[in-house]
Amino acid sequence: MEKAIIGGTGVYDAGKGAYSKVIETEYGKVEVDVLKLNGEEIVFLARHGKGHSLPPHRINYRANMMALKKLGVKCIYATAAVGSCNEYYAPGDIVVIRDFIDFTKSRPVTFFEGEDGTVVHVDMKDPYCRNLRKRFYEASSSQLLHIIGDAVYACTEGPRFETAAEIKMYRMLGADVVGMTSVPEVVLAKELGMCYATVGIITNWCTGFEKDMAIGNMQQILEVSRYKVTEVFLQVFREGLDQDNCNCNNSILKL
Ligand code: HPA
Repeated sequence: MEKAIIGGTGVYDAGKGAYSKVIETEYGKVEVDVLKLNGEEIVFLARHGKGHSLPPHRINYRANMMALKKLGVKCIYATAAVGSCNEYYAPGDIVVIRDFIDFTKSRPVTFFEGEDGTVVHVDMKDPYCRNLRKRFYEASSSQLLHIIGDAVYACTEGPRFETAAEIKMYRMLGADVVGMTSVPEVVLAKELGMCYATVGIITNWCTGFEKDMAIGNMQQILEVSRYKVTEVFLQVFREGLDQDNCNCNNSILKL
């Protein structure tokens, strides 16, 4: 099983014909769905757990990513619900996350805790796999799915939403969208040498930025975009992927 999709808020369903599998890791157990696509098994992981049971700061990111690694996964596409603090990116738009700024506070952020006496750093030049991003753009245009552009993702601790003053600051620092889950997921994928990319589905304007939206609309937006984005992921998977056009499998720097 070399390819996986991580679904975020509102993206739980692997579709018909999937079966469940539980993977034991040193960080805990993870349940995934597996579905067959053209004879190949694709792994589907609901980031928050099935039924959206875990808030963003309590997700077991290390267990999730280690489970995918143990299954042999090399390439991961993820979706994430995000708020927009860029006036050109509106609710309903789809963005490809290009970089992140980390404002998380209390999560385990690495597999390398230094117990064995070695200090390990991971290169963050292309945190989100450049090949997966490129391939997503190409497949979206052939499926007529409009992508509004690249985005810098500010990752907050949550689960509360941001204050207006915080959003003003994130925007000044260069963020386009704000969410609560991409860090440490993206970092852990890189530590394990897996290609990883996130597509953001914009569900709302950020606090104090243009008009606020009711949560009811958020679910509707996610539902519509979810299907289309997943179809594009599956198209890239069908066309085939390798790790020859990026550096994801070679990003560990030992000093
Ligand atoms: N802020 C943080 N996380 C989010 C938002 C937001 O506005 N929308 C969706 N996830």
